[in-house]
Amino acid sequence: EKQGFEHYMLKEIFEQPKTIMDTMRGRILREEGLVKLGGLAEVEDKLMHAGRIIIVASGTSWHAGLIGEYLLEEFCRIPVEVEYASEFRYRNPIINENDIIIAISQSGETADTLAALREGKHKGALVLGIVNAVGSTIARETHAGVYIHAGPEIGVASTKAFTSQVTALVLITILIARKKYMSVVQGKQMLDDLQKIPANVEKILAQNDYIRELAETYYSQRNFLYLGRGYNFPVALEGALKLKEISYIHAEGYPAAEMKHGPIALIDENMPVVFIATQDAIYDKVISNIQEVKARKGRVICVANEGDEQIEKHADHVIYIPYTCKALTPLLSVIPLQLLAYHIAVLRGCDVDQPRNLAKSVTVE
Ligand code: F6R
Repeated sequence: EKQGFEHYMLKEIFEQPKTIMDTMRGRILREEGLVKLGGLAEVEDKLMHAGRIIIVASGTSWHAGLIGEYLLEEFCRIPVEVEYASEFRYRNPIINENDIIIAISQSGETADTLAALREGKHKGALVLGIVNAVGSTIARETHAGVYIHAGPEIGVASTKAFTSQVTALVLITILIARKKYMSVVQGKQMLDDLQKIPANVEKILAQNDYIRELAETYYSQRNFLYLGRGYNFPVALEGALKLKEISYIHAEGYPAAEMKHGPIALIDENMPVVFIATQDAIYDKVISNIQEVKARKGRVICVANEGDEQIEKHADHVIYIPYTCKALTPLLSVIPLQLLAYHIAVLRGCDVDQPRNLAKSVTVE
């Protein structure tokens, strides 16, 4: 049921404070700064000694996987590859002895992701799942895994599953990192930050009317560029995917610094650029990318941290989000991009819950 919301997608966007909480529920031992994941209990040692983690997924789940790469490499110091399942399955991939494959899938039925995990399993890898649909094929065929507990996702565009996938990846990261390089204090700090995410998502959702107004300014554009760096690079990809799939506006996501290597040629007054420019070590670099866009008459929408007033000098519009540690930023920065895509699509008269040509679960290749 839509519970008073006009579309399932909007309902699911607004559910995120709860669904992120549901992904964490019962899995956090705050005092010890530890994470408990029953579904991985038997493979914890193997995870800790993994030589490499290969994440296989498609679409939005692949974007969550990219965030997983940043998390696992930074905090667990395990090399990670993130593979499109469709490419991995046919490439005769190299699997070494201590490699672990993690398949990420909302539906648990995506044909390519399933085939990729079967291929990995056949070559002897331990295969884990991060899945929403309980009892789905991917959940059944993996050796072990984590359910995200986001509840049924009806809107074809994935929203709450994405934030729960990222939450699950944060939990797995802390699980492994605490056995390796992460201290109890660091573990506690990250878990405290994670537990504040739902309330912070709530604050962003409270700006829904403002984001709808922004959508009114931009909905008739034909192209959009999304740029972010670090943990926000996958968010840029996800923001662009949300927009294109439900509004049919052409949109591309790039790592902000790649702009110079091609996309900058596209920039003029008809190419709005969405920047994710939260406060972190590479903030200044993002600001100079913004200036480069402004110098070419591009219109700039920025997702920035509350209190960052200097950004208003550079951007045409700013959406403020609460500050959190950089590794958790995607859980917040993606929310305004989901809402922006939603409102633009509605203003264009698109069927947001059932976009043309798309199926909720892609069970054929
Ligand atoms: C985008 C979207 C798709 C799915 C992709 C994978 O909003 O929904 O890109 O993310 O088809 O689906 P799952 O996660 O079910 O394997």
